[in-house]
Order: sequence, then structure tokens, then C-alpha cells
Amino acid sequence: MVSSIPSSLAISLLILSTTSFLPLSVYGAGGFSVDLIHRDSPRSPLSDSSSTPSSRLKAAIERSFSRANYFGNAIQRNIPSVFASSPSASDNLYSGISSNSSEYLMSFYVGSPAKEVLAIADTGSDLIWIQCKPCEQCYPQTIPLFDPQASSTYKVVSCKADFCSALSRESCGKKSECEYNYAYGDGSFVDGFLSTETLSFDSTGGRRVQVPSTLFGCTHLSNGTFSDGSGIVGLGGGQLSLIRQLGSSIESKFSYCLPSMSQSSVTSRLNFGSSGFVSGSNSVSTPLIPGNPDTFYFLHLDQISVGAQGSVLVNPSMKAAINAHQGNIIIDSGTPLTFIDNETLQSVANKVASSVSFPKVADPNGVFSLCLDVSGSGGDAKLPDITFHFSGGAPVVLHEYNTFVEVAENTLCLALISSDIDGIGVNIFGNIAQQNFHIGYDLRAMKLTVAPADCANM
Ligand SMILES: *[C@@H]1O[C@H](CO)[C@@H](O)[C@H](O)[C@H]1NC(C)=O
Ligand SMILES: *[C@@H]1O[C@H](CO)[C@@H](O)[C@H](O)[C@H]1NC(C)=O
Ligand SMILES: *[C@@H]1O[C@H](CO)[C@@H](O)[C@H](O)[C@H]1NC(C)=O
Repeated sequence: MVSSIPSSLAISLLILSTTSFLPLSVYGAGGFSVDLIHRDSPRSPLSDSSSTPSSRLKAAIERSFSRANYFGNAIQRNIPSVFASSPSASDNLYSGISSNSSEYLMSFYVGSPAKEVLAIADTGSDLIWIQCKPCEQCYPQTIPLFDPQASSTYKVVSCKADFCSALSRESCGKKSECEYNYAYGDGSFVDGFLSTETLSFDSTGGRRVQVPSTLFGCTHLSNGTFSDGSGIVGLGGGQLSLIRQLGSSIESKFSYCLPSMSQSSVTSRLNFGSSGFVSGSNSVSTPLIPGNPDTFYFLHLDQISVGAQGSVLVNPSMKAAINAHQGNIIIDSGTPLTFIDNETLQSVANKVASSVSFPKVADPNGVFSLCLDVSGSGGDAKLPDITFHFSGGAPVVLHEYNTFVEVAENTLCLALISSDIDGIGVNIFGNIAQQNFHIGYDLRAMKLTVAPADCANM
């Protein structure tokens, strides 16, 4: 199904055979920050003014399952990094995945002269790619296609270069270009050439930060939607991600602070380098655990406690733990809801239910384990804090807006989903749980630091 790039495309290729593409540090010590645009924000091409809180929640549930299936397949089938790649349409292994399942977009510039692109910021993949000219078949995007021939800094990478084998599905093009073919289970796919180019970022504060010779994919054939953006910026832990490529120039550190879902029009920031340093007396740290694929950010969750109801030990025997060594949960900014194994979830739900006096009701979406009718509370339902105790002594106290979602008027559901549904088998700490925390990733010290924060006012 995944056809190769048509040979009729007359691209003048300057093939690189060198294997060293380390970006230069040109922006000094302070690091830099870029805006993160939520998909429902007015700045996003995806925002839909006719959506309602309940339609947005339904869509967030769908995207959560789509992401969870992606992680589950990648881990259980041991598919190396980047987006899942399935060899043929008949292979429905990735049927849960859709090119739509993105949460945040970021804008940046590609080439010389610099052209603006808007792409999905994705902590669950590595490769940076955008759609390029010429494109015989590209999904429609809101910004003109990037034209590599009009850029003086564009270079194609040779399929003999070491970096080519870092792609999870690579092949050698007609002129020895390093070619990638990634397919998604929903019929979408991207094909293109691994290349190097100068990327630049508008740093909050006005400076433009330039990163020369960054490895990225120029997609010349695609199908899907990819959130109407130009492509994807991989922020994962693998070799080709923006984070690993920036490497020592950002001290291998980045952070973000996501405002609450009700504030999706607030622009938040993705911070690189020392701007991404999270500290303070109320911050806690837990190891980032090397896993397979190295794209994903694995943590170890020891237990979950509910208000004064005591703790529930997290079942250590989940499938994620087998392949991820000691890790038993992935932290991901692109998955709205949190997934936890069913046994742990049922114990947590029972503790929540016994600490409140609201009547239980069925979930109209058929997804959540515990929903409560809070109409008797006069609009001020008191619900217990739920604490996720990550290993290394890192309790993260989650508030009501992190752990409950309003599925209908006066119906609140515990926003945790069983990872045993559909055999997903992977626990995920999702972005609703992460709201109003400043979360710092330090890939050198392999440490995640979390501090409570008012993300709308940072
Ligand atoms: C993407 O989302 C839109 C709107 O929610 C939907 O119409 C479309 O079918 C989706 N596309 C894919 C590939 O899932
Ligand atoms: C393109 O994607 C749509 C779903 O988004 C799918 O129905 C269609 O078959 C795909 N086309 C090709 C050529 O794969
Ligand atoms: C989760 O556990 C509950 C209670 O034991 C059970 O009724 C339910 O079917 C389980 N769900 C899944 C997805 O395994």
C-alpha cells in the first residue's frame, strides 16, 4: 500500500555522506521557549467553534484510546521508535491509530530563507517531518508546502549514512536518498527523504533561535490529516528527536506546563535548556527509566493513594513492565486521559466511592469505572485528592480537575481508564493529570521533575 516516491519527481539532490550532523549551539546559555498551541485553542486550525465541553470530551476519549493503542502496539510488538510503521494495509495491527490524535501544535521555521510551519508537538515519537514540494499527493494543510529547492541550507541524507538506520522503516531511494515510509492503521501514511536543514524557533522574548543541520524528514507523499498542520515535531527520547539532536546545547533538558482543559485558549510554552529547569521546594523528582522503544518516557509508579483512605499498590505485573525493564507507566503529553491496570483502578475507584456520599451512576460513554451524581452538592462537590506516588519518593498530588471529568451536567467521572480494555496493556500518565504542573525532563540525569504551578500565568 505504501508506494515509494514517484521517480518523476525531479528533485536536485545533494546527497550527504558524512555521518556527523551535530547542531551548533548558537543560542547561548539561557535556553529558549516556544509557544504550545492546544488543538482547541483559537490559534489552532483544528479549533471548532461549534464544539461543546461534552463533544470535546468525547473526542478526547477517542484520541486517548488511539494513543494508548499506539503505545501498546509499539511496546508489545517491540516496534522501534518513531511512529508505528505497518508494512501493508492488510496488517491491521495499528488499526487504533489515527493521524488525528494530537493535542498540541507548535510553530517554527524551516530553511534559508526561513519559512513558517505549524506542526504537532509529540512526546510519543522521534522523527521531525513536514510536507515538502513537490508533492504529488499530500494531505491538505493550512500553510503553503515547504519548498526545499528554494532553501540554500537543505540537504538530503544518503541511505548509507549512519543516521538513516535510526529510522524505523527506511529504504534506499533511486538516487541513494535515505527514504522513510511510515504507515498508520487508519490508512494514512507518510513517505519522504531524511534530510538536514536549518530550523529556527521564535523564542518567547523575541529572539529567533537557529539550529543548523537538523535531521528532519521532507515528506513528498502522504495521506491522513495530521491535524491540518505541516507535520510532526518528535520530542521523544530517541536519536532523531528534536531533544536528542539539540542534546548538550540544551543540556538535554526540556519542560512544559499545561493549563487546565477549561483554559485551552491560553497559550502555554515548551521550554528548552535552562528555561526547562524545574526546581523549588515543592518539586519532586523520579527516575526516567530507559525502556524499549527509547522514544517513550517510562516512569515507575509505586502506589496511588486516595485522600485519607490509604494507598493502593500498583500492580507490578502489567505488560508494560516486562519490556520496559522497571518502568510501568509512560508519561505522554499527547494522551488526554490516564490509563491504569484494571485491578489497581478498581481499588482506587472503591476508595473514592467510599470517601464520598454521592450516588454512583452509569457512565454515558461506557468508558469510566466510577461516575457520581453530584447534583446534591449545590455545584461544589468535594472530592478527594488522589496522589500518584512515583518511585524515588515523588508523590504527585492530583486535584479534582486532574482526576475527574464532567461527562454530563452534574455527572463527574473518575478520569482513569482501565488499560486492560482492548488489551492495551500499557499504563499512561495523560495530559489531564499533568495540568497545572511544571514538568521537566532531564535526559542526561534521566530524571523527571514535577512542581505544582499555575500554568496559565507563567
Ligand atoms: C480526523 O478527525 C476528523 C474530525 O474529527 C474526522 O472527520 C476524520 O475522519 C478523522 N480522520 C482520521 C484519519 O481519523
Ligand atoms: C487515505 O486515508 C483515508 C482515511 O483517512 C483512507 O480511507 C484512504 O483509503 C487513504 N488512501 C490511500 C490511498 O491510502
Ligand atoms: C475490571 O474489573 C472489574 C471488577 O473486577 C470487572 O467487572 C471488569 O470487567 C474489569 N474490566 C476489564 C476491562 O478487565
